[in-house]
Amino acid sequence: MNNILDGKKVSLELKEKLKQEIINIKDKLTLVDISVGFDEATKVYVKQKEKMALSLGYNFLNLHFDQILETELMQEIKKLNQDPTITGIIIQLPLPDYLNKDKIINTIDPQKDVDGLTNANMINLLNKETSLVPCTPKGIMTLLNYYKIDLIGKRVVIVGRSHLVGLPLFHLLLNQNATVTLCHSKTKDLKEYTKDADLLIVTVGKKDLITIDMVKEGSIIVDVGINRFDEKLYGDVNKDCLKKARLMTPVPGGVGPMTVISLMENVKDAYYLQKK
Ligand SMILES: NC(=O)c1ccc[n+]([C@@H]2O[C@H](COP(=O)([O-])OP(=O)(O)OC[C@H]3O[C@@H](n4cnc5c(N)ncnc54)[C@H](OP(=O)(O)O)[C@@H]3O)[C@@H](O)[C@H]2O)c1
Repeated sequence: MNNILDGKKVSLELKEKLKQEIINIKDKLTLVDISVGFDEATKVYVKQKEKMALSLGYNFLNLHFDQILETELMQEIKKLNQDPTITGIIIQLPLPDYLNKDKIINTIDPQKDVDGLTNANMINLLNKETSLVPCTPKGIMTLLNYYKIDLIGKRVVIVGRSHLVGLPLFHLLLNQNATVTLCHSKTKDLKEYTKDADLLIVTVGKKDLITIDMVKEGSIIVDVGINRFDEKLYGDVNKDCLKKARLMTPVPGGVGPMTVISLMENVKDAYYLQKK
């Protein structure tokens, strides 16, 4: 299929490039992944990150707590902030409800915030300043750039306004002079927006939310959603949309691998930020 935005292939190329870039770093880069509670999907994501980190020669520390008080967790993060051998820290989401996610994320030193989710890094992103950009939006922008997708003046529709994906993407695309509309669960008549989109990005978590009648002929579609059904993975966009799309990301093999490689790039960038 030649109308695929092939995140798997691009991420492998980026991995080779990253390997060359980190050859000159004499310190061992260390990524700490903090998880709390029991979430099956989380375990899979942590394993993927660990595998990629180790294959690049990074240290990977999985700090798992079955249960932990908020104050204790914040203390743990502060210790990691102070530790010069730690390059990057990520908090695996979702956290259990009893923990204040925002408070915990904002305890991370912004220069070690390789998921780019602290308020400080979000403000940098709004101000177009160099900083650590959230991994999924960064991966999507890299993929669009790789396929030389012209964004200037294009009609872009994002469905889903999460702080993790939709909201940072809105700003990144606006910074590239696209005309961006951000839709969400309260949007009335979603199709009225999606059917005219030159670029449609869907990050909701609902299988088949977007069907072929909702997309424009010749459009570009980025499907962020991951939905598990009968041991298989599906996106938010029905596969029939490929018949109309000029280019579309597959699930799996689209946005997922781009997210993981972007995290690894952020670890390298965090190292240089801390050395400044
Ligand atoms: N491939 C990857 O690397 C990757 C990375 C991150 C996430 N994901 C996947 O992407 C999906 C979304 O995750 P997320 O963290 O971005 O979002 P999220 O926090 O789960 O929020 C979902 C968003 O979708 C909106 N929404 C829900 N129902 C809708 C509907 N019927 N019509 C339009 N909008 C609707 C919600 O609107 P409200 O704000 O109004 O509630 C919200 O903004 C999940 O499947 C997740 O697993 C994949």
